[in-house]
Amino acid sequence: MPRKTVAHIDTAALRYNYRLACSLSGPARAMAVIKADGYGHGIREVARALADDAPKFAVACIEEALALREAGFRHPVVLLQGVHSADDLATCAREGFEVVVHSDYQLCWLEGANEVPTLWLKVNTGMNRLGFPPGGLPDVMAWLKSHSMDQKLTGFVTHFACADDPASDFTAQQTRVFAETLADWPSLEKSACNSAAHFRAGQTMFDWSRPGIMLYGASPMLAKTGPQLGLKPVMTLEAQLTAERTLQPGESVGYGCSWTAERETRMGIVAIGYGDGYPRHAGTDTPAWVAGNRIRLIGRVSMDMLAVDLTGAPEASPGDIVELWGPHVSVDEIAHHAGTIAYELLTGITARVPRLYDSPGSGA
Ligand SMILES: Cc1ncc(COP(=O)(O)O)c(C=O)c1O
Repeated sequence: MPRKTVAHIDTAALRYNYRLACSLSGPARAMAVIKADGYGHGIREVARALADDAPKFAVACIEEALALREAGFRHPVVLLQGVHSADDLATCAREGFEVVVHSDYQLCWLEGANEVPTLWLKVNTGMNRLGFPPGGLPDVMAWLKSHSMDQKLTGFVTHFACADDPASDFTAQQTRVFAETLADWPSLEKSACNSAAHFRAGQTMFDWSRPGIMLYGASPMLAKTGPQLGLKPVMTLEAQLTAERTLQPGESVGYGCSWTAERETRMGIVAIGYGDGYPRHAGTDTPAWVAGNRIRLIGRVSMDMLAVDLTGAPEASPGDIVELWGPHVSVDEIAHHAGTIAYELLTGITARVPRLYDSPGSGA
């Protein structure tokens, strides 16, 4: 009998969130961003859940795109980082992958290619990771034309640096630069908006949006949880309560004795730890849920287990299922307690944790 440490994946919630992204995208179509193994949810199953709705998928690299083809999906797939080797251009052309070109060296690779795939040009509007400077675009466009590759160009992409921060006007600035730079090529497509941009009032959505984290029900916005934005959690992370004990005042629990009982405390041990991807930096007071009650972590998270204070859950006993995150405790809250973001938590669940598709969470 395996451990009951599992990640339930609710594919109906995934579809719901995708449709919400579409409704917030205005006239733009939404390419579903399913890189990093579908943000930890399983790329094949995520693609299957969205296959009828999403006209296009976006991934980081060719390995992820090939995994989609091997699983039978024929959708166009955008490689957001383009190719990492000239040799991959022919595969992309054959497989219908759409390749983002962000640097001069990739243009050199195109020059030597026998087959040229569909292309997007990345414009650096302020993120300063990848992309051509706005002022350099006319030269790149001229280069593509002189190499008879302009017909392969679908459009332009850019990426926002601060869309998660409602107080920042940097997104408006990037949007303006993007729109002004591309005004000379009105017939080509444009794509800029990550999940956070969907929640910014008045945001221009262009032709294609690129929602990622919101599909999985987690928040792209600072200081808001996914449910507060109307999103449905997709992953419910659960594990079993495997032991209980009562600590006397002055007794502590776990490595470093970092938490000490001030009064008699009934506590439990849950069979999950950082070896499963639960964040080690989630400290005392991080919430969890068991037997209809919110409880809190105490002490340090170990590799395979963590400790909880059961004071608030008098009916909980060994064998019960604890929800670490899901419908009762948002992954955004856990990320906040661990000093990180939901993206890292969701993509960090390790291979030791089976993903179970569409089983209802039982942590309630
Ligand atoms: C280029 C690009 N577009 C879109 C996304 C999706 O972003 P989010 O998950 O914040 O919606 C990402 C994710 O990192 C990205 O790198």
